Amino acid sequence: MSHEPAHHHGGDEAAGPTTIVVDNIGLLVTNDPALGEGPLGLARDAALVIEDGRVHAIERCGVAADDAFDAAGRCVIPGFVDSHTHLVFAGDRADEFVARLTGQPYDPAGIATTVAATRATTDDELLRLARRRQREAWAGGTTHLEVKSGYGLDVTHEHRSLQVASRLTDDTTFLGAHLVPPEYRDRADDYVDLVCGAMLDRCAPLARWIDVFCERGAFDRDQARAILDAGRRAGLGGRVHANQLGPGPGVQVAVEAGAASADHCTYLSAADLDALAGSDTVATFLPAADFSTRQPYPDGRAAVDAGVAIALASNCNPGSSNTTSMAFVIALAVREMGLTIDEALLASTLGGARALRRADRGHLGIGARADAVVLDAPSFTHLAYRPGMPLVAATLIDGQPVTPDDIGRLR
Ligand code: NIG
Repeated sequence: MSHEPAHHHGGDEAAGPTTIVVDNIGLLVTNDPALGEGPLGLARDAALVIEDGRVHAIERCGVAADDAFDAAGRCVIPGFVDSHTHLVFAGDRADEFVARLTGQPYDPAGIATTVAATRATTDDELLRLARRRQREAWAGGTTHLEVKSGYGLDVTHEHRSLQVASRLTDDTTFLGAHLVPPEYRDRADDYVDLVCGAMLDRCAPLARWIDVFCERGAFDRDQARAILDAGRRAGLGGRVHANQLGPGPGVQVAVEAGAASADHCTYLSAADLDALAGSDTVATFLPAADFSTRQPYPDGRAAVDAGVAIALASNCNPGSSNTTSMAFVIALAVREMGLTIDEALLASTLGGARALRRADRGHLGIGARADAVVLDAPSFTHLAYRPGMPLVAATLIDGQPVTPDDIGRLR
């Protein structure tokens, strides 16, 4: 991930490995059952030993080190892996949110409002806005994010959105198929040809993934298949916005295409659960969108019980989910989706990494990236038990606190 951590030590790289210790951890979640108790791999009174940005060892606390942070008995978790965001946008659609509070339904056509605002914004401003959202995410404990395009919807602006996204992350997603833009009204197939042709040619070098919004009012089953196929031929992995606003073909399309993730999954039939359970496609739930759009919440319990691999993500965007807070997502998941706190924490860390097919993050196993969060709490339970509270004392990416304030809270 491209980031600008606060460098707190002036080590000479030629002098050997840089070792950092986070000591006095009251409760450490590793997500590696080989390193501790249960599926979360819990270790108590532990020290996290980091070498060159990777987890080197988990030890009993009290490790002598030149460069040590003091967790002061607090809980440390793997950083959140937010596998679904739309951080590259300009403008605000609070008026739509307010209208929904008095009964207006969510309308995906609102995407066009953000497209107009985004196209009208300078490159520098678009980057500044996206970076500000990424800093918010770090402050909330997110250490890795996926970022989509999708508010450009022409060759120039989709390309520009991916240039901005590439400054934030290496998990960039080409979402030219977010909506048929107004200039292609009644010519949806022509727009699909553009997405699969000139737009993909220009955007693929900047993207790792391709995504399509497969829903009534956006792209249908055949269009979604064509877009995912074209993306695969260009070397991009698949992701699908699926079954958000009603039952539909999105999940089946995602599974058939071998997509890494089917996202939203608010409406899952028994056949959808079966298809997901027998596949490598992760079901990524986005309950902050269901909160904002006043949709029902997905049945996370049914998915877990059916053996489906799940993730939780923020879906940060101006229309349906204007938040980067993974703690908020966890609180919703345990209160409204039937997940336990342990399941919700796993889904927002390891689950997100699986949805991005990243083996080296979302956990603090030996050799993983040392992406960790020191909570101002004795346990991760507080993420849901104290909703809305600023519980992140410090966020570390590659073993480095991301801001000078983070360092201050660990010394
Ligand atoms: O994931 N559903 C499609 N895309 C976004 C919403 C975009 C918008 O309303 O601006 C989502 O919810």
